[in-house]
Amino acid sequence: MKLQALFQPRSIAVIGASRREGSIGYMVVKGIIDSKFEGAIYPINPKADEILGIKAYPTMQDVPGEVDLAMLTVPVNAALEASEDAGRKGTKVLAVITSGFGEVGRRDLEEQLVEIGQRYGMAIVGPNIVGILNNPAKANASFSPYLPYPGSIALVSQSGALLIALDGMTWIDKIGISHMISIGNMADLDMADFIDALNEDPNTAAISLYVEGLKDGRKFLDAVKRSAKPVIALKAGTSKRGELATASHTGSLAGSTKVYSAAFKQFGVTIAKHLDELFVRSIALSMMKPLMGDNIAVITNGGGAGVLATDAAERYGIPLLDPPQELKDLFAQWMPAFGSPRNPVDMTGMAARREYKGAVLDALKHPWTDGAAVLYCETAVTDPQDIAEGIYEAYQEAGATKPVVVSYLGGERALKASEWMKSKGVPAYFDPDQAMSALGCLRDYGRYQAHRETSTFMPFDDVNPVKVGEIFAKARSEGRLDLSENEGDAVFQAYGLPVAPFRLAEDAEQAVEAANAIGYPVVVKIASPDILHKTEAKGVKVGLSNVEEVRQATAEVIANAKTYKANAKIDGVLVQKMAPKGGTEVIFGAIKDSTFQQTVMFGLGGIFVEVLKDVTFRVAPVSPQEARKMIAEIAAYPIIKGARGQKPRDEAALAEALSRLSQLVVDFPEIKELDANPVMVYEDGLLIVDSVIKLQ
Ligand code: ACO
Repeated sequence: MKLQALFQPRSIAVIGASRREGSIGYMVVKGIIDSKFEGAIYPINPKADEILGIKAYPTMQDVPGEVDLAMLTVPVNAALEASEDAGRKGTKVLAVITSGFGEVGRRDLEEQLVEIGQRYGMAIVGPNIVGILNNPAKANASFSPYLPYPGSIALVSQSGALLIALDGMTWIDKIGISHMISIGNMADLDMADFIDALNEDPNTAAISLYVEGLKDGRKFLDAVKRSAKPVIALKAGTSKRGELATASHTGSLAGSTKVYSAAFKQFGVTIAKHLDELFVRSIALSMMKPLMGDNIAVITNGGGAGVLATDAAERYGIPLLDPPQELKDLFAQWMPAFGSPRNPVDMTGMAARREYKGAVLDALKHPWTDGAAVLYCETAVTDPQDIAEGIYEAYQEAGATKPVVVSYLGGERALKASEWMKSKGVPAYFDPDQAMSALGCLRDYGRYQAHRETSTFMPFDDVNPVKVGEIFAKARSEGRLDLSENEGDAVFQAYGLPVAPFRLAEDAEQAVEAANAIGYPVVVKIASPDILHKTEAKGVKVGLSNVEEVRQATAEVIANAKTYKANAKIDGVLVQKMAPKGGTEVIFGAIKDSTFQQTVMFGLGGIFVEVLKDVTFRVAPVSPQEARKMIAEIAAYPIIKGARGQKPRDEAALAEALSRLSQLVVDFPEIKELDANPVMVYEDGLLIVDSVIKLQ
C-alpha cells in the first residue's frame, strides 16, 4: 500500500518543531504527544536540544531510526532545503504544512518540491495544509487541537481551516471519523490518490470529500470507479462568485458546476449540498448497506414527523408506496384502532419498545420491504432509550442486511438515545428530513451499484474515423478551425449519426440537380466557411418544393451572403432535405471541459435550451443506457415521453445517437466544441439538420 506510512506511521518527524509555545511547529509536536501516539517522535530543530521534553535533532540526518512521516513546519524560504533533508533521510511521506506556494502564485516552488519528492521516492501531501489527523494510529499531526470523534468516515479536505473547524464539530454531533486529511494545493498527492489509498484502509468505510476544484477530473473519476467504498463529495464554488473564490483560493481552475455534478452523479459519487448533508450522508453510507429497492417503510409515533418524512421521501427520490395488505395487517397489531398501518405507519403516541420492535421487525422481515426509516417524537409516556434498544434488536434479529435510519425528535433524552443508536452503527438524526436524505443517498448508491456493470460503454465498430481525420486535416490545411456545415454533417454521418440528406452545389443548376436527387421539399443554405451565422446573413431558405424555387433561392442566398460579407469565400449552397413535420427539436452538444475533458450534452431545443438552460451533461463516452438516463433527467422529459396526447419520441434512437456522438469526441480530442442543433426527433428515428464543429 503506497500510503501505508501515512495511515500506519511507526515514526513521525516534525521539521521545524518549535520551542515557541503556541506556534505551529510547537502545536504539531504537542498534538502528536497529546493524542498518545505510540511510535517514535522526532522533533527537528537546529537550535534546540529538546522540545516538549522530547529529544530534538538538528537535521533529519541525525535521527537514529527510520522516518515514515515527516511534517514540515519551517517557513517557505527554508522549505525546499528541509524537504531535501527529509528526502535524503529516506522519509516515506512528507506533509507540508507551510504556506506560500501555488496559492500565492509560486507554482515554481511547488514544482521544485514535487521534483525533490520524485527524486527520493517520497510522497508529498500539500503544501499549505493543517496536517494529518489519524485516529487509528492515535496521531494528531496537525495544528488542530485534538483528534476527531472516532469512527469510520475518512474526511479529505482541500480547505484546512474547514477541516479544523469540523474536527470540533465531530465531538458535538458524534460523527465518527477515521482520518482527517488536509490536502491543500495537491502538488503531488491529490484526491484520487487518497481515494485509492483509503479504499485499502481497513479503518475506513466511507470517503467524504470537501472539493473546491479538481486538477485532473478523469483521474478522480477513475479512482471513484475503482472504489469499493462510497464516496461523498461536497463541491464548493457552485455560484459564479464562489467559482472565482475557489480559483484564487486553491490556485486551481474550478470546472463548471453543471459538469461537476453530472460527472459525480455518473460515477456514483454521492453529492452533498452543504456541510450538514455531507455528514448526514457520510454517516449513512459508512454504517449501512445501500438500499436496493424503492419499498421503504416509515414507522412513527407521530403524524407530523410522518408527514415531514413523506414529503422528504419524495424530494429525495423514494416516494412512499402502499405496503401489501398482509404487511399492513401485521403493522395493525402494534397500534390502537386509531393508528394507521399505511405508509407512514403511525403507531401513535403510546407506542413503546414492544410496539417499535414489533413493527420494525415485521417490516424488515417482510420480502416487500427494502429498508426502513424509524421516527420517534419524545413523549412523557415512553422512554427513548428503551425504544432505541427495541429498534436495534429488531434490526439485528432481521439480519442487519436491510438499511435502517432513525430520526429522534426531542430533548436531551432523545439526543442521548440517538447517540447510542449511532454508537451501535445505526444512522440516527434529529430531523426526519435528514433521515430521508440519508435513505435517499443509500437508494442512489444502490441504483448505481445495480447498474454500474450493465452501463459499460461498448464502442460502435461501424464508424469511419479515417474519413473524419481527412475532413479535419483538410480544414486545418486551409487554416480553418471551424468546420463548414457540410463538413460537420459528413463527420456526423461517418459516426453513424442520421443527418438529413444533403449535397453541396456550386451554382443554381447544380442546386436543382441536387434537389431533384434528394427529393422535395428541400432547404437551401449558404455554404461559406466565413459565414457561421447563416440565418443572420439571410443565407437560409426553407420549404422549397420545386425547381424554380430552388433556382431562385440559390441566387438569393448567394447575393445576400455577398451583401452580408463582401469578401466572404463562397463555396456555393448546401441543398438539404427538409426534415418532415411533427418532429420535436432537441440539441446534442459536446465541449472539452477544463476538468473532465470530453463531455456531451443533451437538451430540448429552442426556448428550453436558450432560456431555461434545461440541459444535462455526461463525461464521454456514454453507453446508450447512460444516455437514456441523461434524456430522462431534463425537466422537459415528459415532452419526449409524449405529453398531451403526443406519441412518445424515439428514445432508443436518441440514446444511440448520443452514445455515438460521445465516441466521436473521445476518438477526436481535437474537437473543442460541437453542436447538432436542431436535431428533429420523431416517433421513429431522428434527423440532424444543422451542425457546428470547432477544432482546437
Ligand atoms: N530545519 C528545522 N527547523 C528549522 C529550520 C530548518 N531548516 N529552519 C527553522 N527552523 C525552526 C525555527 O528555529 C523555529 O523553531 P524555534 O521557534 O524553536 O526557533 C521553527 O523551525 C519554526 O520556524 P519559524 O521561523 O518560527 O516559523 P513560523 O512558526 O513563524 O512559521 C510556518 C512557519 C507555520 C510554516 C509558516 O511559515 C506558515 O506557512 N504558516 C501558515 C501555515 C498554514 O496556515 N497552513 C495551512 C493552510 S490551511 C488554513 O487555511 C488554515
